[in-house]
Amino acid sequence: MAVITNIADLKRQHKRRTPKMFYDYCESGSWTEQTFRENTSDFDQIRFRQRIAVDMTGRSTETKMIGQDVAMPVALAPVGLTGMQCADGEIKAAKAAEKFGVPFTLSTMSVCSIEEVAKHTTKPFWFQLYVMRDQEFLEGIIQRAKDANCSALVLTLDLQILGQRHKDLKNGLSVPLRPTAGNMLDLATKWRWGMGMLGTKNKSFGNIVGHARGVSNMGSLMTWTAEQFDPRLDWEKIAKIKEMWGGKLILKGIMEPEDALKAVEVGADAIVVSNHGGRQLDGALSSIKMLPAIIDAVGDQIEVHLDSGIRSGQDVLKAIAMGAKGTYIGRAFIHGLGANGEAGVTKALEVIHKEMDLTMALCGRRHIETMDRETVLVPKNFAGDWA
Ligand code: GLV
Repeated sequence: MAVITNIADLKRQHKRRTPKMFYDYCESGSWTEQTFRENTSDFDQIRFRQRIAVDMTGRSTETKMIGQDVAMPVALAPVGLTGMQCADGEIKAAKAAEKFGVPFTLSTMSVCSIEEVAKHTTKPFWFQLYVMRDQEFLEGIIQRAKDANCSALVLTLDLQILGQRHKDLKNGLSVPLRPTAGNMLDLATKWRWGMGMLGTKNKSFGNIVGHARGVSNMGSLMTWTAEQFDPRLDWEKIAKIKEMWGGKLILKGIMEPEDALKAVEVGADAIVVSNHGGRQLDGALSSIKMLPAIIDAVGDQIEVHLDSGIRSGQDVLKAIAMGAKGTYIGRAFIHGLGANGEAGVTKALEVIHKEMDLTMALCGRRHIETMDRETVLVPKNFAGDWA
């Protein structure tokens, strides 16, 4: 087997081993994919300062996110359909995260349910919530996350309506996979995936089927979103959800200083600067470009995290140097999962950790928390001259 040295290697294996429609679901952005591309390419504009003759022994990437100890400031982002990338995908990813010492976030649109993931893990994970029209379902799922001892609620605010991803429509993305001739032909070379799926009962949207009234099976994420996600979500409702939850609250999808200040007002514990990995509003600036303005606006009133575009430990360090207290990886861990299950996710985390550790050493820093603005060079007009 080829030696895996970076996330791109895992991505190639993921593509080889996973049905095309699920690989494409992971590896696409909305419409022209401009935001999806710039989320990663904008990191290239930030450079490191090389320092020498500084004691580099005893390095550590350990820190805290929302007061919780983390082995490195990298959480596994909520990703819908993770259990379609490989059988029991959410359980495998959660186990890898738990062993590594980083947070795992379970998506509302996961294949394995909250209860299934809780049964197979020993430490609390985070739960990501989409706000539904059905109040009974909403209250029920918040209670289920509490019962499962989830230690944070990650409320996603940028997907009450689904961005259009051309590939998903063209592929006829569905959960479970439909046995069409094209899908069967594709599966002929993806036998590991097929064997795994035959061996699990987790094949549909586990948090929803059997819990939401009138939903026995799910055609697609598109149908579900159109019918169930509440497009009237506003700050008043966010405040109500905060009250219903009563625990740590992370608001995800903040891209404007004004919205970041509202998150402070509502009393959230952290915000995630995110454009949903370029899957929602195509044409938005990258998350890393919006980060400085948001940090300027909120100061230290709230913890600021960054999501979208992170594919390496160097990207993590750049985000931290620009002021983020934590980061999220989505595709980077999904590539590991699709490539090799739990071991693949562990590999993705190891790759990122090693890249962070080496880069810190070469920047002359021994601790992640000392990776400050002094450690990077950023173009004077990095965020651009937009009006
Ligand atoms: C759901 O979160 C998606 O981006 O498809």
